[in-house]
Amino acid sequence: MVNLSGKTVLVTGGNTGIGKEIVTMFAQAKAHVVVNYLYQEKEAEELRDSLENITLLKGDVSKMDDVDSMVLKLKELGLSIDVLVNNAGITRDNLMLRMSEKEFDDVINVNLKGTWAMSKGLTKAFLKKRSGSIINIASVVGLIGNAGQANYVASKAGIIGLTKSLAKEFGSRGVRVNAIAPGFIQTKMTDDLPETVKESYLSTIPLGRFGNAKDIAALALFLASDDAAYITGQVISVNGGMV
Ligand SMILES: NC(=O)c1ccc[n+]([C@@H]2O[C@H](COP(=O)([O-])OP(=O)(O)OC[C@H]3O[C@@H](n4cnc5c(N)ncnc54)[C@H](O)[C@@H]3O)[C@@H](O)[C@H]2O)c1
Repeated sequence: MVNLSGKTVLVTGGNTGIGKEIVTMFAQAKAHVVVNYLYQEKEAEELRDSLENITLLKGDVSKMDDVDSMVLKLKELGLSIDVLVNNAGITRDNLMLRMSEKEFDDVINVNLKGTWAMSKGLTKAFLKKRSGSIINIASVVGLIGNAGQANYVASKAGIIGLTKSLAKEFGSRGVRVNAIAPGFIQTKMTDDLPETVKESYLSTIPLGRFGNAKDIAALALFLASDDAAYITGQVISVNGGMV
């Protein structure tokens, strides 16, 4: 059983879906967990009240000003982050010909720029203490592409490139950077898809089931732990054999 006592972990978009499960598992592993959220304040408060050692941190990861304010707030609270999980993400699916500039920009800004901005915000502290772990939540579609998701896929492929670059930039300073590429995971993000789409995805999954948030959180926990001390610059798939 992984024990993260003494470690402080920040999870973006940590009050729902996969992020919520990551927060829960890290808290159960005795870490202090900072839950970044932007919407659904009630869920964030309920999560804080149901677990021990949780700090809520409201802010928009896609805005550098918000990120700077969050970093300042952490300093005021005396919290030094050891592990950053860049989980916040959105979809605005559309076919290329119908996709608006706003749909493209919004997705790139939250998913890719948000991952960059949060990593940048915490870089100084990580490099100073010569340790740290960044875990970016990418996606299977960032590896193989997907019709109707050019914006989302580009953002997730971008996260993979960012992960590999930061791993090379920070490796000599003791900071590890990895990505998890989930397949089809049952959350609100996927619940909204039409049944026919879900059925066609299911037929491509050798393990014959959709993933759940625990499947992703378990890997995040491992990557954050000292057992993963020699793993950096990797993209690890959790997709039931889909790819
Ligand atoms: N569910 C899947 O099948 C699946 C598959 C592959 C990858 N992912 C990725 O996993 C991550 C979590 O997704 P999920 O399925 O749990 O969906 P979700 O919608 O529950 O989680 C996304 C979270 O990000 C938050 N968020 C959105 N914009 C934000 C912003 N600007 N600043 C801060 N927080 C913001 C949302 O409020 C939400 O809490 C996402 O990055 C998603 O792309 C999900």
